[in-house]
Amino acid sequence: MKRVAMSVVVLILGLGSWTGWAMTAAEKPFVSNIDSQTGDIHVPEGYTLWPVLGTWSHAKTEGDSGIQEHHVVYTQPETIQHYQQTGEFPDGAVLVKELLNTKTMAMTTGPAVGHATTVKGWFVLIRDTKGRFPSSSLWGDGWGWSFFDAEDSMHTESKDYKTDCIPCHTPARQLAPKEAVDSDKWIYSFGYPVLQNK
Ligand code: HEC
Repeated sequence: MKRVAMSVVVLILGLGSWTGWAMTAAEKPFVSNIDSQTGDIHVPEGYTLWPVLGTWSHAKTEGDSGIQEHHVVYTQPETIQHYQQTGEFPDGAVLVKELLNTKTMAMTTGPAVGHATTVKGWFVLIRDTKGRFPSSSLWGDGWGWSFFDAEDSMHTESKDYKTDCIPCHTPARQLAPKEAVDSDKWIYSFGYPVLQNK
């Protein structure tokens, strides 16, 4: 009787660790900021602690001079290191573009100095070298693509990256380094000089 009970325990423990293994192999998300079943993306928590990859400033085009919007792009430290070594974005690279409202004013450094005020929203890209979510309209061409309004960092406003993102990222392809892998040509990488540091 004791032996039977022991075998049951062994069997249950065995099954437990097997399903645990299967879960890790098949379902463990390759990045933390996605739903591993659907591929739904959210803005990664704590991204502001990541290094800044680069920034973009949008000048006002009408009336007074100054800055109307400021973009700060963040990524994981490993992504920068990997790119510097190989010239490619690694699987699981997350690029977060934070959109910021600004104020421009005279300061002791100059007559029109812009600074960031509040967050307007986020664009998030996740490099996927394995084509993990073929049925999602927000994954393809080597990346996961989503936009978020400042009100909701968990649920994207985007419906289909092919219409929401691709048309505006097509010019990046002409500006990308010739030797870049195809998927990396969607990125405006010339704006990130840190990637060229060795
Ligand atoms: C109106 C055109 C436009 C649309 C629409 C657009 N992008 Fe971009 N995106 C750009 C430009 C131009 C840059 C770089 C300059 C800037 O930020 O002003 C950029 C930069 C980015 C960056 C920083 C990495 C890089 O390529 O430099 C991310 C991340 C990003 N976009 C994600 C997205 C996603 C995801 C979508 C769709 C949900 C999207 N973008 C839609 C034009 C656009």
